[in-house]
Formats: sequence, structure tokens, C-alpha cells
Amino acid sequence: MQRPEAQKRIAQLSSDLRRHNYLYYVKAEPEITDFEFDTLLKELENLESQFPDFITPDSPTQKVGSDSIGDFQTEKHQRPMLSLGNTYNAEELREFDARIRKALEIDTVVYSCELKIDGLAISLQYEKGALVKAITRGDGVQGDVVTENVKTLRNLPPKLNAGAPQKFEIRGEIFMHRKGFERLNAERAASGQALYANPRNVASGSLKIKDSREVAKRPLDILLYHYYGEDQMFSSHSQGLNEARTWGLPVPETSRVCKGIDAVIDFLKDWETKRHDLSFDTDGVVVKVDSISQQEELGFTAKIPRWAIAYKFPTETAQTRLLGISYQVGRTGAITPVAELEPVLLLGTTVKRASLHNSNEMQRLDIRVGDMVYVEKGGEIIPKITGVVLESRDSHTPVQLFIETCPECHTPLVRAEGEAQHYCPNTRQCPPQVVGKLEHFIGRKAMDIQSVGSELCETLYRAGLVKNVADFYDLTESDILRLDRMGEKSATNIIKGINESKMQPFERVLFALGIRFVGETVAKKLAFAFEDIDALSLADTEALIAVDEIGERIAESVIQYFKDPENQIIINRLKAHDLIFKAEKQETKGDELTGKVIVISGVFEIHSRDELKAMVEAHGGKIGSGVSSKTNFLLAGSGIGPSKLAKAESLGVPLLSETEFLALLQS
Ligand code: IVH
Repeated sequence: MQRPEAQKRIAQLSSDLRRHNYLYYVKAEPEITDFEFDTLLKELENLESQFPDFITPDSPTQKVGSDSIGDFQTEKHQRPMLSLGNTYNAEELREFDARIRKALEIDTVVYSCELKIDGLAISLQYEKGALVKAITRGDGVQGDVVTENVKTLRNLPPKLNAGAPQKFEIRGEIFMHRKGFERLNAERAASGQALYANPRNVASGSLKIKDSREVAKRPLDILLYHYYGEDQMFSSHSQGLNEARTWGLPVPETSRVCKGIDAVIDFLKDWETKRHDLSFDTDGVVVKVDSISQQEELGFTAKIPRWAIAYKFPTETAQTRLLGISYQVGRTGAITPVAELEPVLLLGTTVKRASLHNSNEMQRLDIRVGDMVYVEKGGEIIPKITGVVLESRDSHTPVQLFIETCPECHTPLVRAEGEAQHYCPNTRQCPPQVVGKLEHFIGRKAMDIQSVGSELCETLYRAGLVKNVADFYDLTESDILRLDRMGEKSATNIIKGINESKMQPFERVLFALGIRFVGETVAKKLAFAFEDIDALSLADTEALIAVDEIGERIAESVIQYFKDPENQIIINRLKAHDLIFKAEKQETKGDELTGKVIVISGVFEIHSRDELKAMVEAHGGKIGSGVSSKTNFLLAGSGIGPSKLAKAESLGVPLLSETEFLALLQS
């Protein structure tokens, strides 16, 4: 490449990489994969090494991206928080090992191999056994002080065990388990909110919430991978971490000390498949020289340590043909384009479909039916289309236009200004929307009608028997018997289940109605704030937003719902069927616990946890979500986490067993 051309390309790459850094660290909404990012960065590194005079101090090769968002106080790290060199293949790992052996003039290097957790880096400072400061990586030099938020993490003990040094720093990764992520997304889906892309993005977003009480509700976790003591207590990295574990800190159990590079490669190969059984995402393995004196001898480059490297697990990419695009209609009417692909094998499974998300994404890819496309599957389970093989496109292939009418009911689609998603506005008659609403109504967290599943909702709708949620309660056994493959026994069972659901409390009924943005928690808040549906249906914006956690968007949606005469008809019919539309007066059985906050944790012998919760409330007490200085009792069952116990102990919160608790209520 000629100098002027190289200069132009360097400028372009630098500005692209800076933008991608911002999208990844600050917005937590990356547009490209790690692999694509690393490829661009490598290209820039290569060009800069050919034309070193074009290197600027703020080039992305010289600096790490910053996660700082300006909402928190920032503070300088005691030692810079560096990133790591990356490699995607074993060959480069062997070269890394060769460089180290040469520099240290030894034959075999001892490495610590650790899973690379896909979350966000954090530095913790401990003094006298207590966490005094938590700082995000930021730009590597200074980061955001998020101590209060980090203190909400359930697996960090409030007080360390004896033996911990007076003062030290330890670094690690904050992340979210896939289960917690899925639960959070299910809640968002239930209230019609946009879904989060992956656990890493939510973990990063959660840590940057200003209100720590909100952070406490997010299922975040932490694992620590780097200890820095004041004086050199340990001769190896792994020893420091093993000690830290005995102080009560969460240190991964999966790390291994490996002698020589062959053992390291065995470790990677092993985890390349085993990682899918983990409860969290890992995108590779970090290989570190274990001896601290050797680490010191090797030192750092401007950006990375010479004694460590990250091996990234391969994301598999394949090429296949786009056979067509189909469009799915969700419960809320949101239209999702889906790529129908010529079946292709990726990481052991056959991929036939991939989500295209929305019309913006289709435009960004400029994807057209008949194109050869790149499909990729990495840490995330859902395959994605990362690009089009433009060279193999036939020049006559027409530009792909988004559909204009609903594929199910042919109503013209709408798209609100500033929104990415198209919607079908025919909420009342569009079949998948109607069936989706029925499925939501019977759901476990809504009316919990277990005798009616998703399939039966669809059948009842197709048979013209149930067109809205009120129709469930008009069904008779003979209606059911007319359906295919239905016997007396199932018919009785189905009707029984439907009738039993009439006992569900108001907050569940309210959630079951499927009002947009009214998820489980919001439904509870509204039910208890307004006490009955009539008061709620008359509430104006002001009254609604006066309720804790209700904002204008939810208020607007509630008002719109009750404005609609057809919804009024449905509610009146449900009322006629004796569904509960009044919040049960929190039945009080006593006031032994008035003003007391009780945290319940563990497994109990006599009552279920839900029963115990109800008892606390019936006796005037409040349920606390985590042990804090405001907790009056910790009702502890078996299997309660040691960190909870330790926290209660350090705060002087008394423990109650189940029998002690029951005795207290008797007294
Ligand atoms: S060591 C100087 N160990 O990966 C040592 N990092 O690409 C630098 N990460 O910023 C970090 N698991 O956020 C290290 N076991 C592990 C890790 C790990 C995940 C993250 C960390 C770091 C990034 C580097």
C-alpha cells in the first residue's frame, strides 16, 4: 500500500474502531462481533507497523476503550487496568510460549489457565476485611466508582474471613448467568419491552444503574482472577488466588496450573466443548505465566502484559444461501423478519433460520433473497447473519423491501417514529396476536391455568370457541368434546382448571389482561395502589405516575387500554364470571411483626417459602430482598448461602429458624 492510501485507511480504521469501542463499552450495544473487531484492530496494527510515523497517541492500538459514562465519580486506578493480547489459534499460542521461553531462557513455562469470563472488568479494594472501593475499568487509567452497586452482589461476603491481608486489591469480572438473563428477558417480553441482546450487555448496563436498590434486583455475579498484595506474600499468581478463596472471595474453581504449552492446549480443547455446560458465557481462556518473578521480568508493552494472552474460542462461520424471508407476528403485534436459509452445519447443529431483527438490520446488511450470506454462531445460542457475500450476488437481484401488510391478517403495518420495529395494529383480530394474548392469560405467572396449554389455545381459537380471554369462562364440557382427540376426562379437567383460576388474586388478573408494559411487578404495584379495577380505570396520568415505579409510558398504556370500549366489555364479562377485581385487603392476623423487615432464605420443612412470606405479611411484617442494616430478622432454612449468614452476623441481624418463627407468631 502507498503512503497516502495507508494514511487514509489508518484514519478510517481508527475512527471506526473508536466508534465500536464506544458502542461496546459505553452503550453496551455492539454492532460487530469480537472477531470482526479484532480483525479490524489487527489490520490497523499491521498498517501502523509498516508506517509507524502515522501512529497517533490516541490510536485504538495505543489505548483501550472506555466504559465510563459520566454518571459516577471517577478515580484513577492504583495500577492501570490493561487488556490482553488475543489469539484465535493454537499456533499463535505456541509462538507466545516460544517468545516467553526465549526471554526467560527456560525450557518449560508454568502457566495458570483460566476461563475468560464474558462480562465487565472490575477492581476491588479491600481494607481490614471490608470492601472499600469498586472501580470499573474505565479507559484503563481511571474508571467509575461503583462501590455501592458492587456491594449488592450476593456472592461477595460483606466481611472477609480471618487471614486476609489488611489491605489489598483484587480484580475480576462481573457477569450474569444465562438463567438470570433469560428470566430478565422473559419479564421484559411479558411487559412488551425490548429484549436485551446478551448477558454481557445487561451485566454492563446493570452496573451503571444509579440506584443500587435497582442493581440489587439484577442477578449479577462476580468471579475474581487477579490478586495484587501490598507486599509480595505469594510467589505465584495461582497461590494468591487460592488464598483469596480461603478469605471467602469468589475465585473460579475451573482454573488449572499447566506445565508447558501442550498442557495449556489440552485445557483449551477440553473447555471448547465443556463450556456449553457452564451456567454462564465464556468466550475463551486466559493463559498467564504463573510465577510472579517471571511476570515481573517479562513486563508490559504500552497496552498489554507480555506474560498473558487470551485465547478466544472459535466462533464458527459458514456460508449459505438465503432462500427467503418470512415474517413472524408476536403477541404485541411486533413483526420480526426471519431469514430462511439453506440448511448448514454450525458447531454441530443444523441451522435453517436466523433472526433479522427488524427492517433497519435488513437495510444495514442490504440482504436480498438469493444472496449467499455469512452465518455465525459463537457464545450465543442463536445464530446470526453477519454479512452478505456481495461478489457472488447476481446483478439483477432486486433490493429487498420490508413487507407493508401483516402476513397473517393483511392489515397495513405501522412503525412509530424513532422505533425500529414494525407493528400490526390489528390487535383484536390478527390471529397470532389473539392466540399470543390467550397464551399469556393462561400463563404460569398470570392465571396459571395448567389444564390449558399453548396448543389448546390455538385449537380453541381456530375452532372459533375462544376469541378473547373472556370466552374461556363461557366454555362448556360439550364445547371441548367437539374438538378432535378430546375425551370426557380431559374436558372435565380443562373446565375445572378454568373455573379454579377464578380464585386468582387481582394482581394476577391485571397482569393476565396483557396491558402493554404492565408486567408482573407493575401489575402488583397498580393492584395495591388502586385496590380495584374501577378506581384503576378512572386513574389519570398524574395518579398513575404517583405510584412507585410507574412512569409516563406505562401510565399512557394503561389509560389507552381502559379507553377502549372493547376492553371494557371484556372486563365486564370477566366480572360477571366472578373473577377477582379487588385487591384482597392484606388480611391481618396480628401485628407481631408490624414495622419489621424479614428476609427469608433457604429451604424449610413445614411451610413453603411463599407460605412463610404470606404469614409475615399477614402479621404486619415486610419482606426484605437482601440482608441489610434495615433487616430485623433473617428467617433461615437449610442450605442458606454462607455469604448471607456472614452478612447477617456482621450486621448483628438475629437468625430465626422456622420453628422459632412460628413460635414468635403464636406468642
Ligand atoms: S486478566 C493484566 N483473567 O478479559 C491482566 N482477564 O481481554 C488482565 N477477563 O479486561 C486481565 N476473564 O475484563 C484476566 N481470567 C481472566 C479473565 C479476564 C475475563 C477479561 C477482563 C479483561 C479482558 C481482557
